[in-house]
Amino acid sequence: MQDIILSAPSFKSVIHCGAGAFEKYAPLIGDNAFVITDSNVSALYGDLISSTFGAAPVFVIPAGERSKNYKILIKIFEKMTECGMTRKCTVVALGGGVVGDIAGLAASLYMRGVKIVQIPTTLLSQVDSSVGGKTAIDFNGVKNVIGTFYQPSEVIVDPLFLKTLPAREIRCGLGEIIKYGALDGGIYNTLIKNQDGLFDLAFLESVTADCIRHKAKVVSEDEKDLSGARKTLNLGHTTGHAFELYYKRKSHGEFVLIGTYYELYIAQKSGVCEKSYADSLRALIKKVTNKIPAYADAEQAAQAAKYDKKNERQTSVSIVAPAKIGRSEEIILPLDKYAQLIAECARALAEEK
Ligand SMILES: NC(=O)c1ccc[n+]([C@@H]2O[C@H](COP(=O)([O-])OP(=O)(O)OC[C@H]3O[C@@H](n4cnc5c(N)ncnc54)[C@H](O)[C@@H]3O)[C@@H](O)[C@H]2O)c1
Ligand SMILES: [Zn+2]
Repeated sequence: MQDIILSAPSFKSVIHCGAGAFEKYAPLIGDNAFVITDSNVSALYGDLISSTFGAAPVFVIPAGERSKNYKILIKIFEKMTECGMTRKCTVVALGGGVVGDIAGLAASLYMRGVKIVQIPTTLLSQVDSSVGGKTAIDFNGVKNVIGTFYQPSEVIVDPLFLKTLPAREIRCGLGEIIKYGALDGGIYNTLIKNQDGLFDLAFLESVTADCIRHKAKVVSEDEKDLSGARKTLNLGHTTGHAFELYYKRKSHGEFVLIGTYYELYIAQKSGVCEKSYADSLRALIKKVTNKIPAYADAEQAAQAAKYDKKNERQTSVSIVAPAKIGRSEEIILPLDKYAQLIAECARALAEEK
């Protein structure tokens, strides 16, 4: 077990990471806990929650992205006030990224901000969403459009929870892990060395700590996403989010894998990324999923990319492209050129089949 410290000018988060972290640190949260979890996690870990948090109120939201909405947020506030939670309470977000995002937002608003401890239970939330303090709900059909920056005082990352995670959710987490691999040479080498055992739990436990360390460093340099450092964490996400808006059916992590695959094509065609390096990243993606869809109307889906937060205007698209081992580069493309390359990549994928 190890502690990773995220130290930014305005705050410090401690991330307890490794087997045994839950048993050691969760009981120390104290009597004032208000636990937020989802229906799947509650069904699997209800006994553990009650034996750890005793009589603390537990608010269970329906599992799934659709719970990240303002109606559920209001219900959380209703329950918190009914239970008499004071400014001294600690919100405990026990679940995946959906629970973490909405519980983080609730904690940042309740009585102008109460303490929050994140206990991520999916691979994706362990390597990514529980660290860095971005909170959000979706609104009016737009993902993550209402939110705050609000840092957890502690994050408890325990591989214990991964044992019950379906393979599809492991795949989602690996989407973000491969993203880190395209940004960080050390993580890239680890992934290449272990490419035949990417789903192995012992491997996932060790690479999780590497990813958190990478994210903690980036967030400590650019907490509010202003200087450009944090923007790199969006690798694969411009296209991933565009497809996510258009096709909907899959989950965030799967779209990150797909987005990274398409953006590798753009990076290569734009001369930013050499074929051999692009091939090695593509091979890693294919170890995680052999289903990269050849979207038939990719060009139309690409139109959705113009709404990406990174764009300064809606006539161009910005992507963070893998360049060399451990290095990424921003590419800004006119919207029509971007759409054309996305469509070309989809055609190349269709021909492979
Ligand atoms: N705040 C950030 O910086 C950030 C970063 C990345 C993603 N996100 C957000 O995170 C969300 C995706 O997170 P996610 O992939 O964890 O999704 P999720 O929270 O929906 O969890 C995925 C599924 O796994 C189930 N689950 C959770 N823990 C489990 C366990 N231990 N065993 C069995 N099943 C379990 C959940 O009930 C759910 O059905 C998206 O809303 C995305 O926007 C936020
Ligand atoms: Zn992501």
